[in-house]
Amino acid sequence: MSLTTCTIHVIKRQERVVYLTSELAKTLKVAKARNVTLKLGSKSLYLQLKLLKKSGNQVYLPSYVYTQLRIPRSGTTLIVSDNTELRLGPLIGILTSVSPGNSAPFGSRTEFIRQFMQAGKDKAFYFGFSPRDVNWSQQTVNAVVPSGGGGWVRKVLPLPDVVYNRLPSRKAEKLASMNAFKNRFVRQGIPLFNWSFFDKWDVYNLLEDTDVFKNVPESRINPTPAQMKEMLEKHRFIYLKPTAGSLGIGIYRLTYNPRQGYYARFRRGERNVLLRFKKFESLMSLLNRQSSGLNGYVAQQGIRLIEIDSCPIDFRFHMTKNINNQWVVAAIGAKKAGRGSVTTHVRTGGQLMTPEQVLKEVLGTRAEAVLANAKETAIKLAEAIERNDRHTLGELGFDIGIDQNEHIWMFEANSKPGRSIFKHPALKEQGRRSLQYVFDYCLFLSRFRSRRDS
Ligand SMILES: Nc1ncnc2c1ncn2[C@@H]1O[C@H](COP(=O)(O)OP(=O)(O)O)[C@@H](O)[C@H]1O
Ligand SMILES: [Mg+2]
Repeated sequence: MSLTTCTIHVIKRQERVVYLTSELAKTLKVAKARNVTLKLGSKSLYLQLKLLKKSGNQVYLPSYVYTQLRIPRSGTTLIVSDNTELRLGPLIGILTSVSPGNSAPFGSRTEFIRQFMQAGKDKAFYFGFSPRDVNWSQQTVNAVVPSGGGGWVRKVLPLPDVVYNRLPSRKAEKLASMNAFKNRFVRQGIPLFNWSFFDKWDVYNLLEDTDVFKNVPESRINPTPAQMKEMLEKHRFIYLKPTAGSLGIGIYRLTYNPRQGYYARFRRGERNVLLRFKKFESLMSLLNRQSSGLNGYVAQQGIRLIEIDSCPIDFRFHMTKNINNQWVVAAIGAKKAGRGSVTTHVRTGGQLMTPEQVLKEVLGTRAEAVLANAKETAIKLAEAIERNDRHTLGELGFDIGIDQNEHIWMFEANSKPGRSIFKHPALKEQGRRSLQYVFDYCLFLSRFRSRRDS
């Protein structure tokens, strides 16, 4: 296998030929071949090969070939050879929801997708698409591609080499039809990564019996009143969270104090509420009134987080795979809870900081060692989740806590991590780098690597 970049030019001819400069043909080890198969995504053509005595890595394609292969644009991209098979690309499809109109076809995700497309600019073809844009019988996608001046256009393209799943709706993703849709790619040998949203309870189960189970707080799904009482006595405080929830919505923090009784802290509308109950039964009747018997809720051991100004701090570890299929910590953001808030979300008054800032202030000279340990734990957590999950994972967003004994805890694993930590000016560069890693992982999955890299 040989890999290099090349520049594609279109020529006005109607022949089944591909012209390569002899330098490029030599690099691709096809200089002696008379015919090659040229591929883009799922489309391929058997063509005569002609060499041009010119320098550089140039590919000249007759317009017939260019149109048949449905190449999205001319210019620079990667080319990889395997004997006499030449693949242009990679063709990267971003699966998401597409709205009508072409100024922001991917809604609030448009800017993120635009940035991702920059990561491998000149090294790949990118498009966005939604499930209804795929035509399986034609093996094509009615794709949304960037059009020069910042706008977007539709183009019919081959099926991609790899699918990056950023479907935004938890509900839609749970449908059997969506499962079947995604499986169809996998069955055709097209890798799709970030299979679907995680439920908190699923992740807990995936990690049971692994070496990092000690880093997950004890949890129970659909807890009975007796189980909650027992957890409160054992841990003194617990979190109640919807297993399929996000953004801190529907979360309660319950505290038990043998002399004073029970406290419930939660958010109601725009306000943080703190209620006290003498009896456990009164606490339960509040919860039953608000959250219909805690169906679909996970009760989780509360962790005494490190604090600044009496506000708990937790961390977002943004994990990605790299070109060698290994997990890396691409970025870490620290989040300080808003006063009286149950969670650290910015939405509820949380403040974004850098981990260095926080850890130095809280742990002094221990900061570096604790951060290194947290990174190592995060990688082990990612590896353990991946090992026990059946699907291909390329990204994870961990909500990580450090307790007052410096033990590392993982509250939540997000399989389609948000990018709010990258709003911090000191994390912008890491944000860019995280997308570079995702791009590199696409190269790995689509086999756009040379022998040397493997
Ligand atoms: N067991 C816990 N102990 C201490 N704090 C917690 C615990 N679980 C959650 N939190 C706090 O609440 C936040 C939100 O919880 P999380 O599990 O990430 O739910 P969500 O899906 O709503 O983001 C966490 O980032 C953390 O600050
Ligand atoms: Mg979270």
